[in-house]
Amino acid sequence: MRSRTEGSLQGQRLVVVGGRSGIARGLTEAALGQGAEVVLAGRAGAAASLPQGASWIDVDLREEETIATLVSEAGTVDHWVVSASAPANGPLADLPADGIRAALDAKVVGPLLLAKHAVASTREGGSMLLFSGVVGWRPSPGLTVMATANAAVAALVAALAVEVAPMRVNAISPGIVDSGAWDRLGAEKEAFLRRTAQQLPVGRVGEVEDIVSAALLALTNPFLTGSTLHVDGGGRWRP
Ligand SMILES: NC(=O)c1ccc[n+]([C@@H]2O[C@H](COP(=O)([O-])OP(=O)(O)OC[C@H]3O[C@@H](n4cnc5c(N)ncnc54)[C@H](OP(=O)(O)O)[C@@H]3O)[C@@H](O)[C@H]2O)c1
Repeated sequence: MRSRTEGSLQGQRLVVVGGRSGIARGLTEAALGQGAEVVLAGRAGAAASLPQGASWIDVDLREEETIATLVSEAGTVDHWVVSASAPANGPLADLPADGIRAALDAKVVGPLLLAKHAVASTREGGSMLLFSGVVGWRPSPGLTVMATANAAVAALVAALAVEVAPMRVNAISPGIVDSGAWDRLGAEKEAFLRRTAQQLPVGRVGEVEDIVSAALLALTNPFLTGSTLHVDGGGRWRP
């Protein structure tokens, strides 16, 4: 029986793990705008600039204990979203083991542990939404760790969707999105985004809103589970 407004998050409770992630913030604002309650979660320090109406719980996806605490403090939840990422990019020979593990923890092991703890407190009709990424399907040198993590997310949502059913589990696989994550390139950011836009079938890089609209679909479509939605401007097929 459907007890909620189809296609809307009104009256639903979301936990969005991603701290300062631009996509998490965009989704939080959209969900609050639909009348949802949103708890943002992440590593300590990001709580200062919370969107109005959201609350905050500390969690570090490398630490199972903090994940269990997040779940118990969050109470009954409709949707869990994890948009965290701890990129480990560069030539393999230069990558420290703890950086590789942190990257896999943020996108794969942490979400898996979250599912372990969260299923019991997820309301009927609820879901989990993870984030993959285009590099999982379009690897290039220096991106092996993130390609592995992103491809693993797609396998994880398919497997979890079967194991934790009827809770739904999906992923979004963004292409290159000007979410704030690329600010770390400094002066090179604009040229990188311009170059990427020219290579993409859609002729532009992604905006946070492109990803948020797909995330809202994944959260509210009751027939969608085990799926990875590629919202990448055709990035998998660029020449
Ligand atoms: N933006 C893109 O172009 C793009 C492309 C492909 C895929 N994606 C994926 O889409 C998702 C969202 O992207 P975004 O650009 O909005 O992300 P982002 O700006 O890179 O933010 C990632 C967030 O993850 C948090 N984080 C890292 N490790 C964590 C941990 N152990 N525990 C808790 N939080 C942790 C970081 O928190 P701190 O602030 O504490 O470090 C940061 O706030 C990510 O999964 C990303 O890989 C994005």
